[in-house]
Amino acid sequence: MSNILRQHNLITHSPDETIVLGAKLAKELKPGSIICLFGDLGAGKTTLVKGFAKGLRLKADDVHSPTFTLLNIYEGKGRRTLYHFDLYRLAESSEIELLGYEEFLYGQGLSVIEWPERLGQLMPKEYIRIELSHRAEFERGISIKEVK
Ligand SMILES: Nc1ncnc2c1ncn2[C@@H]1O[C@H](COP(=O)(O)OP(=O)(O)OP(=O)(O)O)[C@@H](O)[C@H]1O
Ligand SMILES: [Mg+2]
Repeated sequence: MSNILRQHNLITHSPDETIVLGAKLAKELKPGSIICLFGDLGAGKTTLVKGFAKGLRLKADDVHSPTFTLLNIYEGKGRRTLYHFDLYRLAESSEIELLGYEEFLYGQGLSVIEWPERLGQLMPKEYIRIELSHRAEFERGISIKEVK
């Protein structure tokens, strides 16, 4: 495992610091990795995804939480495509099967999932688990763990 993945518990003190962390992570993760982001509303999940986009040299400004879609795809060169799932509005896990989501989730690009708990039984078996917590106005706790 790479260095950053070994640092289990981190604290960031600004959105920019969270973006820098996401960029570092994206560079160290193998293509095809799945990252599940746990944390309440406003914990900083989408902010971290902006960092992933930056690390893959995609446009971080394009990253936002889709209001009506469950998946945004940010196309990158070669294997550097980012699949950004936001399952907040998923009513039941079977709904995502209509997306053909497995093709993306288990494909070559980096997949990141906000609100992965909505997947229920469809949760991947292997993933990088990142938990974000709101500690103070600009302070977020970020813990990283590899689940196998
Ligand atoms: N250290 C920090 N890291 C990340 N975001 C921070 C930090 N400090 C303050 N913020 C602010 O917290 C908010 C995080 O919003 P963001 O959309 O990333 O949360 P989210 O977890 O994706 O929420 P949702 O579940 O609604 O999608 C932003 O307004 C951001 O500016
Ligand atoms: Mg979000």
